[in-house]
Amino acid sequence: MKSLYVCQLLFPLLVLGKFTPEDLLSAPRRGEAVPNRSGSHAVFHLSSYSFDTHSPSSSWNLLNLHNGDTTVLFSDPTVQEMVWLDDESLLYINGTNSDTKGGSELWIARRSRPGEGYKAASLPAYVSNLKTVSPSEKSVSFVVSALAYPNGTIYNSESAPKKLDTGLIYESLFVRHWDAYDKPEKSSLFSGVLSLDGDKFRLEKEIKNLVAGADGTIETPIAPFGGADDFDISPDGQTVAFVSKTPYLNPANHTQVLVYIVPFDGSSKPEPINLEGKDTSGDPLPKGAASFPKFSPNGDALAYLQMYINGYESDQNIVFVYRMDSSSITALWKPWDRSPGGLLWSGDGNTIYLTAESYGRVRVFEAHIDDDTPKEITAEGNIAAMHLLPSGDFLISRNSLTSSIGYFAFNPSSKRFKTLLLPTDVDLQLADLSKITVEDFSFDGAETKVHGFIVKPSDFDSSKKTRLAFLIHGGPQGAWTDSWSTRWNPVLFAEAGYITVAVNPTGSTGYGQAFTDAIQNQWGGLPYIDLAKSMEHLESTEEYNYIDFGKAVALGASYGGYMINYIQGMPLGKKFQALVCHDGSFASQNIYSTDELYFPQHEFNGTLWDDPENYSKWSPSAHIKNWGTPQFVIHNALDFRLPISEGLSVFHILQSLGIPSKFLTFPDENHWVLKPENGLVWHREVLEWINRWTEVRANRRTAKTAKAQTALKAQDKL
Ligand SMILES: *[C@@H]1O[C@H](CO)[C@@H](O)[C@H](O)[C@H]1NC(C)=O
Ligand SMILES: *[C@@H]1O[C@H](CO)[C@@H](O)[C@H](O)[C@H]1NC(C)=O
Ligand SMILES: *[C@@H]1O[C@H](CO)[C@@H](O)[C@H](O)[C@H]1NC(C)=O
Ligand SMILES: *[C@@H]1O[C@H](CO)[C@@H](O)[C@H](O)[C@H]1NC(C)=O
Ligand SMILES: *[C@@H]1O[C@H](CO)[C@@H](O)[C@H](O)[C@H]1NC(C)=O
Ligand SMILES: *[C@@H]1O[C@H](CO)[C@@H](O)[C@H](O)[C@H]1NC(C)=O
Repeated sequence: MKSLYVCQLLFPLLVLGKFTPEDLLSAPRRGEAVPNRSGSHAVFHLSSYSFDTHSPSSSWNLLNLHNGDTTVLFSDPTVQEMVWLDDESLLYINGTNSDTKGGSELWIARRSRPGEGYKAASLPAYVSNLKTVSPSEKSVSFVVSALAYPNGTIYNSESAPKKLDTGLIYESLFVRHWDAYDKPEKSSLFSGVLSLDGDKFRLEKEIKNLVAGADGTIETPIAPFGGADDFDISPDGQTVAFVSKTPYLNPANHTQVLVYIVPFDGSSKPEPINLEGKDTSGDPLPKGAASFPKFSPNGDALAYLQMYINGYESDQNIVFVYRMDSSSITALWKPWDRSPGGLLWSGDGNTIYLTAESYGRVRVFEAHIDDDTPKEITAEGNIAAMHLLPSGDFLISRNSLTSSIGYFAFNPSSKRFKTLLLPTDVDLQLADLSKITVEDFSFDGAETKVHGFIVKPSDFDSSKKTRLAFLIHGGPQGAWTDSWSTRWNPVLFAEAGYITVAVNPTGSTGYGQAFTDAIQNQWGGLPYIDLAKSMEHLESTEEYNYIDFGKAVALGASYGGYMINYIQGMPLGKKFQALVCHDGSFASQNIYSTDELYFPQHEFNGTLWDDPENYSKWSPSAHIKNWGTPQFVIHNALDFRLPISEGLSVFHILQSLGIPSKFLTFPDENHWVLKPENGLVWHREVLEWINRWTEVRANRRTAKTAKAQTALKAQDKL
């Protein structure tokens, strides 16, 4: 029996029932499983939250790759990241420091006696994104990221001089990004060597900032979402490759990212490899965002992903390979119409395994260096992480609409997954999810076939009519996939008693680049037609007679929230008894209050001053006269992508027009609600709102809407 299961059986609340928001938010969240060299064991992180004690817990665990057994290594939250040092020992970041306030430490422990580890290094600040290579048994070369002052000195928030005022002054962009005001301290990479001294590893000399000498301001990993995939160490420990936005261009107005190479010991400054020039076929090098630098197993080559267009964050990723000896760059599999998000070299360096979204799933593709097109090798669920095992199998961390991340051994020849750990077997909160049916469906959209998912409640009965929850995704270049999420989880809505429909309209990713690109200058155009046609398709197809179209609600966040505000004034909105808009945009002319200016300039194909009609054309604010559907507006104060004034404007107008409406804000949340207690309130309030308008008879809405219409008419006369 698995140890985790034993732990959970001790929990007092054993009532098995429908999947609730508490279940979603308290269920264990597992990270990727990382195997040791021999492939016998893997480590993974697990975190969870208890609504009984109102406290989080987390642990590091060992997974036996032969039988799936798990054992707890650490349940101490100071253990923040962990990597295998050799087959038996683990190196971890200890987030405390016994000598320096605001510092951290590196510790080494044997996996068989995790509690008996020792301190190998004391670091002067908080560090993260630990990566290592071991060129010999006697030394470990590591790289970590940490904040640094513009002069390269590591930044310790505890010892930094305190300011007496809070003013922040800007003469260039960014002012703020995602959920933080821009500060002069940026993320940098630091390298260090641990050497064997007797029977213990010790830090040789102080860690060294590798990026400080570069021309211009370097930030790596790239905020706000960059991590350990933004850099790599060559297998011989001599070279570090990393990505950073190009220092020659304003980061708020451009997406161009350069790939840099620097000696591990920092003996010379980092140099970009892809600033300008041509690839081996004679084409100019791309100018868009680059990511995922990964050295080949023998260190001869560096693979990375890059987009061509500067200023477009959702352009197609192309795989490039840089040869260390000749500095040549080759573009691979260019005609392949998928945009990979991750890559993994095979042991012999002749194949690259790519992960890419395709028809609603993140799949693995096998791509031989000499082949024209990558071949799909996995079709199920959503691949969150993959590692090669010495046996030739992959250790896969995979989730789906009906399961959080589980672990599998995948055999690429038989294409079979062997289950090592399945959350629905071990997590009580997820026990009933195997009864849920997920269906793919497609219909004729505005210009082409469009794909979506239908998720049915576990107690679905086709002879009864069931309410409808219609979900609209954000991005807009994103997609509903067969994957797990603790925000906007379609299964949660299904288990609350709704047939949950999630459509991927024009602009969605995973259906070819042309489909993604086609949303430019079309925000309320093609995607709106696709969404309207999806409803017409469901209404007119006998198979879906089980849907109660008189009790239907639509919900969306970000671009999905924009679409909610847009359909509020459009015929599609009239099909719903209630709407929910989370952090959506309202007046497209206000969009320069966002953080990344390249985003609206690409989406609306011009600037607000040169092409103002492109912005006004699709603005929800242009159609207020048609509003009438009850709407719940949620907008968070730390959302710097779409400031709270967008949500406040919508709510103030709804209230002024007498349209039933509710407003929720979290002063401490950004574009997303991340804290479990806040997430619980979010879910309770959303379910309360949609239940309120679908449990009562439909004429209640008609009455309120009539009142709203009267209010509008009265206004007309002013
Ligand atoms: C891989 O790690 C496990 C757990 O530490 C260990 O039992 C096994 O021996 C390791 N493999 C080798 C080849 O040492
Ligand atoms: C973390 O570091 C502190 C300070 O050195 C030490 O007291 C503690 O035991 C360490 N914990 C672990 C799990 O390494
Ligand atoms: C770097 O800048 C910080 C902040 O201004 C300062 O405290 C530190 O002394 C500087 N370090 C060096 C080596 O100049
Ligand atoms: C951003 O790009 C636009 C379009 O090229 C340009 O007009 C504008 O001046 C740029 N803004 C900044 C802050 O560089
Ligand atoms: C408008 O879009 C076209 C096609 O994507 C592109 O070539 C052009 O540069 C864009 N213009 C502006 C001002 O964004
Ligand atoms: C939008 O911008 C493009 C490129 O500048 C222009 O051709 C087009 O006419 C503009 N207006 C509308 C309403 O699409």
